[in-house]
Amino acid sequence: MSPLSTAREIEALKSHRAETPKDMRAAFAEDPQRFERFSLEHDGMLLDWSKCAVNEKTITLLAELARAAGLEERRAAMFRGDKINGTENRSVLHVALRESADRGLTIDGEDVHREVEEVLSRMSAFAEAVRSGEAKGATGKPITDIVNIGIGGSDLGPAMAVLALAPFHDGPRAHFVSNVDGAHMHDTLKELDPASTLFIVASKTFTTIETMTNAETARKWIEAALGTDAVGHHFAAVSTALDKVAKFGIGEDRVFGFWDWVGGRYSLWSAIGLPIMIAVGPKNFRDFLAGAEATDKHFASAPLEQNQPVMLGLIGWWHRVACGYPARAIIPYDQRLSRFPAYLQQLDMESNGKSVTIDGEPVTTPTGPLVWGEPGTNGQHAFFQLLHQGTDVIPVEFIAAASGFEPDLKHHHDLLLANCFAQSEALMKGRTLAEAREQMGAKGMAAEEVETIAPHRVFPGNRPSITILYDKLDPFTFGRLIALYEHRVFVEAQLFGINAFDQWGVELGKELATGLLPVVEGKEDAGSRDSSTAGLVAFIHGKR
Ligand code: F6P
Repeated sequence: MSPLSTAREIEALKSHRAETPKDMRAAFAEDPQRFERFSLEHDGMLLDWSKCAVNEKTITLLAELARAAGLEERRAAMFRGDKINGTENRSVLHVALRESADRGLTIDGEDVHREVEEVLSRMSAFAEAVRSGEAKGATGKPITDIVNIGIGGSDLGPAMAVLALAPFHDGPRAHFVSNVDGAHMHDTLKELDPASTLFIVASKTFTTIETMTNAETARKWIEAALGTDAVGHHFAAVSTALDKVAKFGIGEDRVFGFWDWVGGRYSLWSAIGLPIMIAVGPKNFRDFLAGAEATDKHFASAPLEQNQPVMLGLIGWWHRVACGYPARAIIPYDQRLSRFPAYLQQLDMESNGKSVTIDGEPVTTPTGPLVWGEPGTNGQHAFFQLLHQGTDVIPVEFIAAASGFEPDLKHHHDLLLANCFAQSEALMKGRTLAEAREQMGAKGMAAEEVETIAPHRVFPGNRPSITILYDKLDPFTFGRLIALYEHRVFVEAQLFGINAFDQWGVELGKELATGLLPVVEGKEDAGSRDSSTAGLVAFIHGKR
């Protein structure tokens, strides 16, 4: 499906920018309904974009853009299982992984719902066996620690989710080794007992060099401690490449498959979620899937202007293309979501960091922004200075729960939320020079000092932010939150006219690394490589 021409709608939105609020304090003062007008609550989740410089016409024009870009048709095509990932000739069906009812969907002749349920029930049985101690290590010890070996989508989702769902974690401890840097494996293993450790090798392709290298090291660690015959008791695998897993020597009963219609960065709902299921149990994992399904249904059916993922995407596009902001900051006021920004970096930047349209033509607008972030309140004491007073405008996305899981520490949560709301208010309102002078004068500062310092205490304000709120981060809500962001990326991709589901940009570095390995090892010389690369290699050789 080619991107439709949206040049007219884009131009209309760009010119419309001149009509949008310049002074957000005034916009709120003039319209007491601004919050109601520019926020959307769906089933207990609130999305508030009222602090962004938009008006009702902006939303109308953005919805027209979405229609002109064929968003509704492409959304339907995704849910239908059409091969919308054209460059890989694949369907995009992570939504099918969390669909509770069988709607008779088949892909390449395979019954999708039946296969998904089959893997889920095998995962559940295995997870229960590990959690209950029935699945033991080779010496008869129960499993106390699982180590997921994977990278990218085979790591970030489960690692982020296990942390997020800590209040529900009642299974074995979970560790995640992703980096090929031996320090990662070494520092993880040094705490562990081989006799009670289970490795899960997670790789969609089962060829990723980092994962394969780490898996070999883990196997040697088990063999050295417990003997070769112990390997079968201490490994499980998750992959779409079942033939390659068999070669690694992991028994069929411990191999959990998924399908090429699940993108790596959309795979935590599949067997890639096994560490999550072992940590929090199959029931909580099902709740997590149900939360995502609730968002899917909302995304698939709600009118564009009443649709949270659509609105999040439209405002994201507005900031990126019409306003030209280069980045977005994701700031969860939730320590347990500390890996959520990293997870979203892959979801968003690997999906929408593209420069050609679906047809292979150069794009005519900017595409995905730089995505980054850290939890609040910590970020406030690190980089918020730039958000408030730096020369770039970086839209911020605040995420928080109304309540925490620690009733006896409610005062912490109140302070956390007060900080969250204060930051979005400060970004929006700013502080004028007159206010800075007045405040300093009221504190009794000398007039001369006031004049010198006051310009440094001015905040420009009118800096946009979006806030997402919900009751508690339980598995259901957490599933909703992730699906909200997945569909937002989809919406933005459609407006950019790009394919969000391939990732050719990761290939070149992989190819060059393969060629460079013998050079680094000293088995080959640098040949005709550029003098910088050759010089870097020579430097490390000189140090060894
Ligand atoms: O190199 C990028 C990538 O292909 C990601 O898209 C993917 O999530 C990651 O590597 C890991 O791939 P695999 O699961 O096949 O090991």
